[in-house]
Amino acid sequence: MTKKLRLGVLASGGGTNLQAIIDRCQDGSIDAEIAVVITNNPGAGALDRADRAGISTLCINHRDFSQREDFDKAVVGALQDTGVELVVLAGFMRIITRTFIDAYPNRIINIHPALLPAFPGLHVQQQAIDYGARFSGCTVHFVDGGVDTGPIIIQAVVPVHPEDTADDLAARILEQEHKIYPRAIQLIAEGRVCVAGRQVTIKPPCAAVDASMVNPPLDN
Ligand code: GRF
Repeated sequence: MTKKLRLGVLASGGGTNLQAIIDRCQDGSIDAEIAVVITNNPGAGALDRADRAGISTLCINHRDFSQREDFDKAVVGALQDTGVELVVLAGFMRIITRTFIDAYPNRIINIHPALLPAFPGLHVQQQAIDYGARFSGCTVHFVDGGVDTGPIIIQAVVPVHPEDTADDLAARILEQEHKIYPRAIQLIAEGRVCVAGRQVTIKPPCAAVDASMVNPPLDN
């Protein structure tokens, strides 16, 4: 049996991405196991999801720390104690510091509900609608020092429909998030992901995508 990649998942909210990763670990479609789920929010639904799956959890409340750096040191300590090899941010609502990034160089990934570099930051589904974008989507990327700026591993595109609310668009994007986040983890688990500057290369290469999408369609 191949050794499984040990994940530390950090989540502040409901944890549907965490759930997708739990499910794919359990059904064997990714060669990974979740060593620990850490939250900064004692009320995070992600904690219940982890409990139900029998995964260890830890709440490290950022309010107990006066310095961002000290909070990050506590989180890194907990990740190292549990032998975490890849840190997976899944709706983790804290900006992480250099201390954290240096402890896990190119070993921290994040998922963002927009097609980066468009719409970094918060409330991005509403931003895409307000801007009049015809497409949005989601992005899994490595975490560097910026906000949603690191090298891109995988993206999925969804259309924005004329009557969409932010919730409608968020739901359409989340469906894709639940597919691409486990896929990114599996590519890393297989040792296929190489990073050089901003470029992420998958080796051996995946089949080229040859489909283009047009919205509104060309033919009606
Ligand atoms: C997702 O939309 C993710 O892209 C963003 O935060 C949200 C987390 O959702 N970073 P969930 O807690 O995984 O349901």
